[in-house]
Amino acid sequence: MTDRIVLAYSGGLDTSVAIGWIKERTGKDVVALAVDVGQGGEDLEEVRQRALACGAVEAIVADVKDEFASDYLMPALKANAAYQRSYPLVSALSRPLISKYLVKTAHELGADSVAHGCTGQGNDQVRFEAAVAALGPDLQCIAPIRDLELTRDRSIEYAAAHDLPIRQSKKSPYSIDQNVWGKAVETGFLEDPWNAPIEDLYTYTKNPVEASPEGVDVVITFKHGIPVAIDGEAVTPLQAVERMNVLAGNEGIGRLDLVEDRLVGIKSREVYEAPGAVALITAHEELENLTLERDVNRYKRDVENRWSQLVYDGLWYSGLKRALDAFIDETQQMVSGDIRLHLQGGRATVTGRRSAQSLYDYNLVTYDEGGTFEHKAAKGFINIWSLPSKIAARRDNPLALGQGAVSVEASAASELPQGEAAATPVAEPVARETER
Ligand code: ARG
Repeated sequence: MTDRIVLAYSGGLDTSVAIGWIKERTGKDVVALAVDVGQGGEDLEEVRQRALACGAVEAIVADVKDEFASDYLMPALKANAAYQRSYPLVSALSRPLISKYLVKTAHELGADSVAHGCTGQGNDQVRFEAAVAALGPDLQCIAPIRDLELTRDRSIEYAAAHDLPIRQSKKSPYSIDQNVWGKAVETGFLEDPWNAPIEDLYTYTKNPVEASPEGVDVVITFKHGIPVAIDGEAVTPLQAVERMNVLAGNEGIGRLDLVEDRLVGIKSREVYEAPGAVALITAHEELENLTLERDVNRYKRDVENRWSQLVYDGLWYSGLKRALDAFIDETQQMVSGDIRLHLQGGRATVTGRRSAQSLYDYNLVTYDEGGTFEHKAAKGFINIWSLPSKIAARRDNPLALGQGAVSVEASAASELPQGEAAATPVAEPVARETER
């Protein structure tokens, strides 16, 4: 049997041409695999037929939307995913799953290679190939556009010469990638980072100024960090994302425009829209504020940042990512409850939170009579808490010494080790803010 290669197929010009191109250049038969991660657009049966018409020996459609939502988007939500503090990793999340199906299909069909349609400038090539390396280290991975010199112009020529059934409508000036978590747009006039995005770029969100003036309230119920109901109606993870895309998209929420640090070392200008992701993450993070112990909550924010970088950098199937997931999952045990969001004018604002696992204690926090907070205990706590500062001030802050501001200075000053510290001249008083 001829060697086979499984190609991640989108139905567009480049991957359509790639089918024949790969066959010519490598002699291998091409199996086209179209993975449905909720990118919308064309019917995937049509896409499948086109792959066959372009010379694929086999064409397969895999609807993985539920798996994508449950196993890729929910971990991202639990991690409050945000690369460079804002980008919820739209494309970075789909690549590992598409790669998983490339590898699975290759193994099932006895193919020795897989292929993707990325260029050499982006992150996605790294994500595909790093994922394939982790899941199918036996497989070769080729990128016809990058490795077999399949340029855009060649694609157009090839398609015409071979009479391929591709609508050769004018090429969109943008490079677009989308899935159920959002949409990424790059290139075209956006390559000048001073150019403002235009309304045409957006399809998941309404212009916030055209959204309803009064906005809308929505209550999201979470269980262990996962949305399980919206306005009281049970939802699957996929339904939660889809529902929030509509609700938040109608209010213009989730538009982003940033210069991004790509893994390949360059900076690029990116426009995104991810209404459901942004609304869900806003709600989830606030529920964590209510239910996580202080130090877990604080520490988790650092972990989230590292998690987002790893996923951005294509290391979904890595040991560190798995270990961070284990930490994050442990933190989610108590992240259950309701968050009310007000969606309006491009913003999702939390206006209410409640949870049976809440750590918020009215009696401790109230300023009213009858609160249970032990005010007097605060004084001793602060004495001990600020002791290191006090001791250091004796050494470092001549002003404090001179003013006798430190109550136990005499004994401790004589305990300073001789040598360096003792030899340090008491210099000009350092100007510092003193407490009121
Ligand atoms: N820069 C984003 C990322 O690396 C989006 C990539 C979108 N891909 C594309 N082919 N347009 O995740």
